[in-house]
This record gives sequence, C-alpha cells and structure tokens, in this order.
Amino acid sequence: MGKPIFLIGFMGSGKTTWGKKLANALEIPFIDMDHEIVEKIGMSIPEYFSLHGDEGFRKIEREVMLDQAERTGIISTGGGTPCYFDNMQWLIDHGTVLYLKHSPKSLWNRLSQSDVNKRPALKGFSGEELLSFIEEKLNERAPFYDRAHIHVDQINTPLEKLVEIIE
Ligand code: S3P
Repeated sequence: MGKPIFLIGFMGSGKTTWGKKLANALEIPFIDMDHEIVEKIGMSIPEYFSLHGDEGFRKIEREVMLDQAERTGIISTGGGTPCYFDNMQWLIDHGTVLYLKHSPKSLWNRLSQSDVNKRPALKGFSGEELLSFIEEKLNERAPFYDRAHIHVDQINTPLEKLVEIIE
C-alpha cells in the first residue's frame, strides 16, 4: 500500500475541491481531515472553536492527523495543520506533501466569495481587513508550507498536470 498524499495550503486554496477531483482521476480514496474532525467532535468547527478555542482545536486536529498514518489516498488537511506542534515534520515523514500555492490576492478573491463565518480562523474579517489578515497569516505560515515535497501553483496548473506529477 502506497503512502498517502497530503494536500496542504492556506484556507481557500482548493484542498478539498482539488483533492476530490484528484482522487477521482487517480481512482484512489479521498479523505478530508476537517470532515473527520467534525465527526470526532460531534459539532461544527466554529462551535468547537468558541467552546475550546484555537488551542483545543489544534489538539483534536493533531489526533486526527495521527490517525492518518496507515491510510492511503489523497488526504486534505486543514489550513493550519502543518503549522502547529511538529505536524509538518510528521506529514513529511508519513507521506508525500503537496502544497497548493496561491498569492494573498488570489486567496483574498477566493475567500471573499466564501462564508467567512464557517472559518473561525478568519475571525469574521472582510474587505481590506481580510486581505491584511491573509498577508500576515500567510507570512507566518509560509515557512511551514514551503517545506512541502511538491509546490504547485494552483491557478496555473491544470488538473491533468497535477495527476501527472502525482503519478
Ligand atoms: C483553519 C482552516 C480550516 C479549519 C479550521 C482552521 C486554519 O480548514 O481546519 O477552521 O487555521 O487555517 P480549511 O483550510 O479547509 O478551511
């Protein structure tokens, strides 16, 4: 059984959408870690954040990540997963890590069209405030994301190319 492929990247980078498409094209399973977290905690992520804060969420997130060790297929992580504890090293050691890369502007465009309240890490920001937040957070997270085995410019890489890279 092959090692899993972990998709990492900022919120809104397309980890779930592309993960599903890729898994479909490669005929391998798709696992969404955020979805597994919701199943484990029995409530939505925003609810969990408001009860247990970022610290509580990161502990559960790590537990769910550790459960992925024996899995195979495409595994989409949460935007913050690689950036806490030694999670990034763990991902590197247990699979192939693929970073779906975007500029802050591109993430801003994508996140502006989504419901920011579904993502507590965005703190309800919108407009220019959201862009500044993305720039700052991406700066902070880039050193983790940049350690990925493979970097992919999500906007300019067609799905077929991505399938080829993985194969
Ligand atoms: C988070 C990203 C979310 C989710 C949680 C925290 C983050 O996942 O894990 O809301 O800190 O970047 P997506 O990247 O799938 O939105």
